[in-house]
Amino acid sequence: MACKVYNESSDELDNVRKLINASKKVLENAFAPFSHFRVGAAILTEKGNMYTGCNVENSSFGGTICAERGAAMASVAAEGYSRFKAIAIATEPEDPAQPCGICRQFLSQFTSPDVPVYLVSTTSGVVKRFDFGDLMPFAFVEF
Ligand code: THU
Repeated sequence: MACKVYNESSDELDNVRKLINASKKVLENAFAPFSHFRVGAAILTEKGNMYTGCNVENSSFGGTICAERGAAMASVAAEGYSRFKAIAIATEPEDPAQPCGICRQFLSQFTSPDVPVYLVSTTSGVVKRFDFGDLMPFAFVEF
């Protein structure tokens, strides 16, 4: 699987720096009293707008909503259905965490295989770039 690893200060990330910074900032708002695992997500749509989300947990654990789905929900609420152009997901481990399977499926409704996904560590500054299609091959999108 093709994964490119950067340090967050790399010039090569200049065009997505706003998106990466937004994902790190919204992580601060995560409501994660049960897992203490905070996640922030930022999505750039093809219309050029950015939407963010953080994980919001619930004492009925299955009611928890991940950061990525929160950001996708915000985009649809604000501008209706649109395609996603880039996604950044921030977590605290030095090796940034991977998005869960439910979120990969959810994002596949809006995201083409060639779209870049940046996984960002708020502690080490490591940024890993994947193509969405490598994270979610054979997505279920038609029936
Ligand atoms: N979480 C996310 O927000 N996104 C993911 O892709 C993986 C998991 C959240 C859900 C829960 O609040 C915490 O991380 C631990 O699973």
